[in-house]
Amino acid sequence: MDKEKIIVALDVSSIKEEERLIKILSPHVRIFKVGMELFYSCGPKSLDIIKKYDREIFLDLKFHDIPNTVKNSAKAATRLGVFMFNVHASGGNEMMKAALEGAEEESEKLGIDRPRILGVTVLTSMEAAQEQVLSLAELAKGAGLDGVVASPKEATSIRKKIGKDFLIVTPGVRPEGTETEDQKRTATPKEAISAGADYIVIGRPITKAQDPVKIIESILS
Ligand code: C5P
Repeated sequence: MDKEKIIVALDVSSIKEEERLIKILSPHVRIFKVGMELFYSCGPKSLDIIKKYDREIFLDLKFHDIPNTVKNSAKAATRLGVFMFNVHASGGNEMMKAALEGAEEESEKLGIDRPRILGVTVLTSMEAAQEQVLSLAELAKGAGLDGVVASPKEATSIRKKIGKDFLIVTPGVRPEGTETEDQKRTATPKEAISAGADYIVIGRPITKAQDPVKIIESILS
């Protein structure tokens, strides 16, 4: 297992708690995910801490709105210097294209790399929905997105259907012996990677652990 493939979800609500985790984890993790809990609690400051430690950001705000709003939000996300962000694929072709256009225009203007944009298929906390996930993945590919967020359970069929040049990012990952909590379509890190995931997202099994580094090390070994 390559440690670059692990994305840690920082689902906390204060900068203090965020920085405590980043301090411990940044030697072992390249990408940190900031979702709604942390972003709505602390705003862009939560991203500055990650940049301070020279790590990359996956902004997980799952945009889902009219194309014009999503385009301008994509521009804002690009200005925040994130490595990756996401939109709901169910927002449709036009909305996903608008996200891509916004990110392209803004990154060109700033002379920076365009953030990767992922389409969220079906939440991993929901029961199986193989067909729905596959059609949303095709829709995301058709709109020109860089990849999708899906459960490890669907990674193999997405890879088969869409091919190689398409990122598959899987939350719902649970190292052996840890609680599934509200996640339904789960798999172990090893299963997720073997199924074709490019990145695995892990939150609580790491962030709530007594010794988060030990969990990362056991995943890697
Ligand atoms: O703590 P846990 O490992 O379950 O965290 C998973 C993270 O991935 C959470 O931040 C959740 O919001 C996010 N996520 C998800 N399913 C999706 C997209 C994002 O669980 N489809």
